[in-house]
Amino acid sequence: MSSEFRLSMHGQWSGRLAFILAATGSAVGLGNIWKFPYITGDNGGGAFVIVYLICILLIGIPVMMAEILLGRKGGLSPINTMAMLAREENRHWLWRGLGWMGAIAGLLILSYYSVIAGWAMAYTVRMASGVFVGATADGATSIFVALTSDPERLLAWHTLFMLITMMVVSRGVQHGLEKAVRFLMPLLLIMLLILVGYATTTGAFTEGLNYLFYPDFSKLSSDSVLVAMGHAFFTLSLGMGAIMAYGAYLPKNISIAKTTFMIAGADTLVALFAGLAIFPIVFAHQMAPAAGPGLIFKTLPIAFGQMDYGILFGTLFFVLIVFAAWTSAISLIEPMVAWLVENKNLSRIKASVYIGMLTWFIGIGSVLSFNVWEKATWSIPGLFQSINFFDTLDALTANILLPLGGLFIAVFVGHLMSRRKVLEELDTQALLFKIWYALIRYVSPLLIIIVFLKAIKFI
Ligand code: PHE
Repeated sequence: MSSEFRLSMHGQWSGRLAFILAATGSAVGLGNIWKFPYITGDNGGGAFVIVYLICILLIGIPVMMAEILLGRKGGLSPINTMAMLAREENRHWLWRGLGWMGAIAGLLILSYYSVIAGWAMAYTVRMASGVFVGATADGATSIFVALTSDPERLLAWHTLFMLITMMVVSRGVQHGLEKAVRFLMPLLLIMLLILVGYATTTGAFTEGLNYLFYPDFSKLSSDSVLVAMGHAFFTLSLGMGAIMAYGAYLPKNISIAKTTFMIAGADTLVALFAGLAIFPIVFAHQMAPAAGPGLIFKTLPIAFGQMDYGILFGTLFFVLIVFAAWTSAISLIEPMVAWLVENKNLSRIKASVYIGMLTWFIGIGSVLSFNVWEKATWSIPGLFQSINFFDTLDALTANILLPLGGLFIAVFVGHLMSRRKVLEELDTQALLFKIWYALIRYVSPLLIIIVFLKAIKFI
């Protein structure tokens, strides 16, 4: 069987399930549980959710298929994959810049992702200690503020999270990761269901449900549309090479289309469950949906503080969030690490340590963004209003670099690669292929461009 597998120097997934697990591990993370609820709250609810779902369908899924396809065809780190495919297709060498842009975006994302994952780690300890038992909204909020206003604590947790990420990356992404995802992801889904179950008892479940799914398009600004589109990329790990890097380790005989549907489906489900768990708590306790990045940390502890076995469930839940963040973090630096291993002849261990240290250092800026630098903001008139270091990194990566990466991926696969080569990799039903090809050639790129132009008020 192995003869049909392209051998890559980084190893290969043991099969379809392993790839699905790893890619799902990358996709399901803080984006689903931490970010989706708070940006939904910041952007007014239902209408935002609808736009996000449309983006997943018309942009995210087609681009994910394209990205896996590129990765498997190239079989190398995204930078070298793009360099090689551009050469093969007689395209400009600058196309490797797409790989570079993604690798850098990955580091920037991980730098703040690790800080937030650090919050979740801190919360496992707080949950286990029982401080949330019987907590009120005010109590939970003040515990959150006490944590984030202390830069030293945040730095310690950020450091610990970067260390465990470097540990796994240095051993190679296949080891251990598969097992972790196989058991922990289903467990996470069960915990979310328990939380949704609790949410139905708060008396504000319908209010939460309405908030999440009843669209009020008057609340939707062009910026919100950009955030929704950016999040579609972020939550599916697209536009920066993570999925391309994982695709490089994918055996040839596996259907890219089917695999993509499963990953995108699981990812969306987790996000919607998280929303369904959180908003009823928000409304039952008269809290503000637009509470920013602290939203889940201010709301979920109240639920755990009131339910039976709350200490146990709460601790377990935050442990699972840390795991989900961990399996995403690994994929965020994989493109850069894989490139260093290929081109600079570094061992995986050295490459991970160097990249990890750099990322850790950039992360200090985000640690400070929740306390000393909180008010150190700047603006670009008409585009960004008083954003600090963390907000800037978030906006730059999720709203600009990832969609831009996705746009280039769509153009490359849709217009610059020969149809025959694309068809070879994407050996799927004729009708499905036609639909996908139309999406990746026209619909996805045009939508991305329109959303960008709208956001800068150009149209
Ligand atoms: N998809 C991850 C999440 O939702 C974040 C991520 C973004 C991972 C980009 C890899 C690449 O948490």
